[in-house]
Amino acid sequence: MRILSGIQPTGLPHLGNYFGMMKPAIELQQKGEALYFIADLHALTTVRDPEALRRNSREIAIDFLACGLDPARACLFRQSDITCIPELSWILSTVTPMGLLERCHSYKDKLAKGLHASLGLFSYPVLMAADILAYDSDLVPVGKDQKQHLEVTRDIAVKINELYGDIFKLPEPMIRDESAAIPGTDGAKMSKSYGNTIELFMEDSPLKKKVMAIQTDSTPVESPKPLDGSPILGIYRHVASSSDYTAMEEAFRTGGTGYGDFKKRLLEGVRDYFAPMRAERQRIASDPGEVERILSNGAEKATAFATPVMDRLRKAIGLR
Ligand code: TYM
Repeated sequence: MRILSGIQPTGLPHLGNYFGMMKPAIELQQKGEALYFIADLHALTTVRDPEALRRNSREIAIDFLACGLDPARACLFRQSDITCIPELSWILSTVTPMGLLERCHSYKDKLAKGLHASLGLFSYPVLMAADILAYDSDLVPVGKDQKQHLEVTRDIAVKINELYGDIFKLPEPMIRDESAAIPGTDGAKMSKSYGNTIELFMEDSPLKKKVMAIQTDSTPVESPKPLDGSPILGIYRHVASSSDYTAMEEAFRTGGTGYGDFKKRLLEGVRDYFAPMRAERQRIASDPGEVERILSNGAEKATAFATPVMDRLRKAIGLR
């Protein structure tokens, strides 16, 4: 089984990225051939600072390794190092109906947020289809927000297969129930573009500031607190043991505990959860040459996976 996923270097990885994609991806590296990449070509649709793009790409690689990605089992690479991806994206775009892309929520959301309507932003799902189809991927672990992009990928693959024969495998998304959108500090989906993120390896003082600023309602200390839609509970359930989580839920129900106390528990929970990985991160970050070596080895292996797929496609469509 071949497993593939990607993350954009538009910022540093946050809890939503970790629980929605990185953690399941790392667990899956035991189950098959895993390919995980840093989607720097996708990030070009929004990031205009070259140094930030390079820095974020490197930091994501370090975070992924610190969280348990094992380069002996999984390929970790930069999307831009795989030179056939833009070619494949172009070929796929020639069969992609405009209407399919016009229906994509993420494009409409980005325009609503005031982003410039570029061709790259519009065709973003086609580049994503290229990422997935290039490697004969079977399984794609992603957060819920990427579900529609996976459907577009399958539609494009079916179209090519109808036109040219059996070229592409149809990939399956893997979206775990518990990963359905991790809330941010304002209760909306945690997202770099909403400014409501908590990054995995924040220093103590900014972490505390973010957690203590989580939005809450004005329920008095002694009263029961609403469970539904609480960002404190929504995040805590991922970092706490099930008994600690149940205890917090119970305290929400019975009342008598203020939001400030719940936030302190959450802060401890986040710190404890990432403490062992933080130590590992320091070790990895102290050897940038090794990180580069892992990324170029990953790119080499990924290219070897993509080569037979591209040969098959080029031949079938008349380019060779
Ligand atoms: P990106 O960089 O926005 O996010 C990376 C992964 O994190 C998941 N995620 C979340 N999951 C749960 N709750 C949240 N609050 C949350 N926020 C983010 C995302 O669903 C994603 O799985 N287009 C992709 C990158 C990409 C890609 C691909 C992914 C490019 N090509 C091919 C898979 C396959 C993106 O923008 O992810």
